Amino acid sequence: MPTHHADRDVRRALIIGAGSIGMELAAQCVAHGVAVNVFDVDPEAVAEGPRRLERTFREMGALGPADPVSATRAATFTSTAAMASQDVDLACECVPEQLPLKRRVLGEFDRLLPPSAILTTTSSYFLPSMLVAGLGRRERFAAFHVHSPVWLAAVADIMPHGATSAECVGSLERFARRIGQIPIVLRREHPGYVFNSMLRVLLMSALTLAERDVATPEDVDRAWMGVTGMPVGPFGMLDRIGLETVRDIARYWGGVMRDPQIVRNGEYLQRLIDAGRTGRRSGRGFYFHPGPAYEEGTFLGRMRVPARGDPETSRTERGARAGQIPAAPGGDATEPMLRCELAAVPAPLPPGDARPPSGMVMIHGGAPLAPALATRLRSVGLEVVVVPGDSPPEQIAPLFAAVPGDTPCHLVLAAAWTDRVEPIPTPAAWRAETLGVIESAFALCQAWYGHGLGKPWLTRAAVVGVTSLGGDVGASGRIATPTGGAITGLLKAVYMESRAGGAGGPAVRIVDGPAGDRIDAVTDRVLAEMTDALASCALSPEQGFARVEVGYRRDERHAIRLVPRPTPAEGPRISPGGQWLVTGGARGITAEVARRLAVRFGLRLVLLGTTPPGDEPWERLDARALEALKRDVMIGARATGRKPNEAWDAVARVIEVRRNLAALQACGIEASYHVCRIDDAEALRDTLSAARASGGPFRGVIHGAGFEHTGRFDRKTPAEVHRTLGGKVSGLVGLVDALRHDPLEAFVAFGSLTGRCGGVGQTDYALANDLLAKLVTHYRSGPGGTAAATIHWPGWADVGMAARPASRRALEGGGQRLMSIEEGCRHAIAEIVAGLPAAEVVIVDRGVLPPAMFLT
Ligand SMILES: NC(=O)c1ccc[n+]([C@@H]2O[C@H](COP(=O)([O-])OP(=O)(O)OC[C@H]3O[C@@H](n4cnc5c(N)ncnc54)[C@H](OP(=O)(O)O)[C@@H]3O)[C@@H](O)[C@H]2O)c1
Repeated sequence: MPTHHADRDVRRALIIGAGSIGMELAAQCVAHGVAVNVFDVDPEAVAEGPRRLERTFREMGALGPADPVSATRAATFTSTAAMASQDVDLACECVPEQLPLKRRVLGEFDRLLPPSAILTTTSSYFLPSMLVAGLGRRERFAAFHVHSPVWLAAVADIMPHGATSAECVGSLERFARRIGQIPIVLRREHPGYVFNSMLRVLLMSALTLAERDVATPEDVDRAWMGVTGMPVGPFGMLDRIGLETVRDIARYWGGVMRDPQIVRNGEYLQRLIDAGRTGRRSGRGFYFHPGPAYEEGTFLGRMRVPARGDPETSRTERGARAGQIPAAPGGDATEPMLRCELAAVPAPLPPGDARPPSGMVMIHGGAPLAPALATRLRSVGLEVVVVPGDSPPEQIAPLFAAVPGDTPCHLVLAAAWTDRVEPIPTPAAWRAETLGVIESAFALCQAWYGHGLGKPWLTRAAVVGVTSLGGDVGASGRIATPTGGAITGLLKAVYMESRAGGAGGPAVRIVDGPAGDRIDAVTDRVLAEMTDALASCALSPEQGFARVEVGYRRDERHAIRLVPRPTPAEGPRISPGGQWLVTGGARGITAEVARRLAVRFGLRLVLLGTTPPGDEPWERLDARALEALKRDVMIGARATGRKPNEAWDAVARVIEVRRNLAALQACGIEASYHVCRIDDAEALRDTLSAARASGGPFRGVIHGAGFEHTGRFDRKTPAEVHRTLGGKVSGLVGLVDALRHDPLEAFVAFGSLTGRCGGVGQTDYALANDLLAKLVTHYRSGPGGTAAATIHWPGWADVGMAARPASRRALEGGGQRLMSIEEGCRHAIAEIVAGLPAAEVVIVDRGVLPPAMFLT
């Protein structure tokens, strides 16, 4: 039997124990090209292993493998020790911090491992000399200890005992470097190595402060983070390490050192463990995870101060100085997104000396505004055609057949005008009237645009929207006639799409006023704004966009700007354990936010979507099996004349739903999923009644349902437009109605930056999103005064509609940077826990909008 370790690189490592640190170490090895066997006595941990490894890869972000799914193939999971030991060059024992257990496990693997293999322990506090007795490979045994999270902490302690060979230490140093760790070789045995020696004192002092009720764990962390500028405090670290590990350490050292306070600290931890609060892995320790409170911008109650001279601080600190949520620690090295609110700023009145428009104009709308506008526009010589607001889309296209191709044609879309604040329509009124008028306005605008495409007059024509949102396009949070949001959203997208690729487009102007504004004042303004918009056509697209939306209050003219504002402070508490409704919550970004929120507040979730989850356990398939399934589905589709991509998309949706439901279950969240088209108000009402009967009233809502299909404005089909409006807006109308008796603490709707600022290929989607925002703003100021808000999201990376290949290409091609899941979730949760203080919140990368749009 060879006694000398063959001094060669480690090709396969064995991780003994699939706990937190074992999985991190396994992931780190695989990410650096070292294959691993992972052993655990618990068959469930073995079965779950590949999924947990994949999750760990995802947590590693850019530091993990490019393809987390296929990378899991480099790991083998087993609960058979002999199998686990085969062909292994190095074994790392990572079992719980109990001396007899460690001794037993090390002894067993010492007998099974190939003779030349190195055996190590990751013990946090036991010395190798306390563990070496009885081992055959004394010279090939040492401590190899890493810190969590391994990919960020990046320090490996190597602690030999008296008989460890220099070759063994050298191999461990090389192995540490190979897996991206800085090796720290101890010159003599010392309990707790280098960093942990310091950490133990810190953790025990922190625990003593909490155990003796000197300060709360949160305040202890605040004190540490505030003074040192570190992103985590001692109790946050305790959660990461795991309370059971630290309890074991406290028990051991409390006994060895005969220190009653350390023993009491261990008992304090035990009480939390008994309540199921074992740390980050279980979703709850001193904090709820993921997304613990200390990672939120508001945790310190002030902005963080950068450590002087630290170049890495610039990224988080520039955001933090503006009160923004810092980017994820260890995430991509990009600026955090800005959190903005809307503001109406005074703007000069149009000069009034330009020549009024000529040619013809079509006006879409109803009495009394449309006829009054017609009279005013005729008075300056325009030829006017009034298209009744309730004209069905199919009657609209023929209108242009009679218009000579080279005649400049302007368009006015006049939203409903009344002299009172309009309520949100009931589902019946929405279906019977409002939706039809909106689709009719869309169809007319589309037909007008299609008629002008490629003709020189289009760049000399104007399209003007007239709304009675309140005089500041909703910036004040008070809305008079919310349905005008359809026109604002649509026209901003028309502006963007018509100028895509540097092309010139029509003049676009939205003129907003308060309810009951004098009609003659409105018609004068429309003429003045149309004239001004045409005169502004020469401006660059960026300068021009800042002039698209204007509002009038008492003859004062306002433009709309985005104001960067700090992440709000925590407000009224969300009731723990309440039932929340989440539309679209089994997929995409909504599922991510809902899960984190539910873990944090122990919520029960009712999730709605249209995809039946089926009963195929597809969520358990590994990457290879998924590839095979995809191939079969696509071949099957082709054979039966269906589109292969669509057939696979349907299966992929099911898999996503099932995986998200399984993830909720794994976090211990009570959740039910219901197949329900939320634009079907009756079906929605029935589904909610049934859910209430079993889980009580709803205390909160995340309305994330939505559909987006990128396509040229002139090619959008009525069915696409109807579907885009369905989940988002018809759904909202149904929700407001169905939830009117529930004691809602929060109602958050997911809108889009596209709704606020337009987007290419997204005319219907922008319409739906801006309309959604105006309805939600109206809802919050309504009789119930529900805390409600819309978050206008930029594209999210890795999950949801923007991450799908076609949208991703379009967004990134248009210069949009995608936001990380963690950053997005932190924004959503920060708004909710703050009590949704702003009606419309815009999360935006400053670089994608013209500087003139920001008020800084
Ligand atoms: N992802 C982003 O980057 C991004 C950016 C800006 C805004 N947003 C907004 O955020 C929300 C979520 O986006 P996402 O990317 O997570 O979308 P997603 O992955 O496509 O998921 C959309 C969800 O909405 C559901 N849904 C759609 N129409 C519905 C209807 N009529 N009734 C019931 N459920 C319906 C879908 O259910 P089925 O699939 O089962 O039909 C699905 O669960 C959307 O409102 C979107 O506009 C997302």
